[in-house]
Amino acid sequence: MSKSTIETDCLDAVKRAMDKAYSPYSDYPVGALIVTEDGQTFAGCNVENASYPEGNCAETAAIAAMVMAGHKRIQEIYIISQDDQGATPCGGCRQRIREFADNNTPVILCSPAGVQRRLTLAELLPHAFGPEWLL
Ligand code: THU
Repeated sequence: MSKSTIETDCLDAVKRAMDKAYSPYSDYPVGALIVTEDGQTFAGCNVENASYPEGNCAETAAIAAMVMAGHKRIQEIYIISQDDQGATPCGGCRQRIREFADNNTPVILCSPAGVQRRLTLAELLPHAFGPEWLL
């Protein structure tokens, strides 16, 4: 499959994830899609809670799905919101992604119109603290 076909498939999948978001309080749906080294994909959406701090981000859900399936490496991650520029992940999710990715891992920021920005994780989280400091 060509890169553009894979990207189109990932974009469709991350949009479907965003459509599943439970975000009645913020009205800010987010979707995330992790691609692993072997090409498998794991999606997540944000799930909010009436006790606001108990809500989870989309990236967190996608990471949990990936780990549950036995994977520990993120090859790339797509993140989508309704924002035209493709919103960046929150600080906590940058750190959560870092656990299973490295400085060069692509973080692909999308809007409903398509891919808006491709950043590396190091651009989003420079001088990161990661598992290599402990393991
Ligand atoms: N949100 C995410 O799902 N991922 C992020 O990286 C940023 C924020 C969610 C959390 C909350 O449900 C909504 O977006 C508004 O902050």
